[in-house]
Amino acid sequence: MQLTFLGHATWLVETGGKTLLIDPFLTGNPAATRKADEIACDYVLITHAHGDHISDAESILRRTGATCVTTNEIAGDLGAKGIEAHGMHLGGKQSFDFGSVKLVLALHGSGVSGGHACGFLIESEGKKLYFAGDTALTTDMQLLRDVWGPIDVAVLPVGSYFTMDVPDAAVACRFIAPRYCVPMHYNTFPAIQADIDDLRRRVAKESPSTEVVEVAVGASHRF
Ligand code: NI
Ligand code: MN
Repeated sequence: MQLTFLGHATWLVETGGKTLLIDPFLTGNPAATRKADEIACDYVLITHAHGDHISDAESILRRTGATCVTTNEIAGDLGAKGIEAHGMHLGGKQSFDFGSVKLVLALHGSGVSGGHACGFLIESEGKKLYFAGDTALTTDMQLLRDVWGPIDVAVLPVGSYFTMDVPDAAVACRFIAPRYCVPMHYNTFPAIQADIDDLRRRVAKESPSTEVVEVAVGASHRF
């Protein structure tokens, strides 16, 4: 599978012959190098409804006709606008033509009333990708290693203020023990600056089997 970083928490995942767009935030994203109307995708996955994760979802879903996978509350809001979505929820897993998606706990606000944020455990091409979304450090992350793993790639927020910081993300790597850790949700705004060299040092201590792979905005990495 190939991951392309579009800035902040927005990713394109090409796997199983399909393209998944996760948490589209390009318009007004100071880190973005691509425009929303340039993006082609088969699926749009949304972890929660804060603007820095969903702002371009509606326009991209309307233009592309992509299949949306998200929480039940966000699917309800999209449905009221005439956009169909898979309204799943925490613990649920569904198979698609590229593989499967399981919604996992994220300790964070939902951005919609009555909702809950989520992360995604994506299985495709025989690999397991944990996309954390926005979350605090939680011991529930040990489930990813002990029950649902082994995890090949963990994409984790590291910028603090809204999410885990670098020290907590390193501990998350101990809990998850992924082969690769990919940082996100940092350096987009002044409030969420992070030092990825510090992350590398801390991950080397907390989870020696994990390699930190920093993907530059606009760059792709094949896992
Ligand atoms: Ni958020
Ligand atoms: Mn966010």
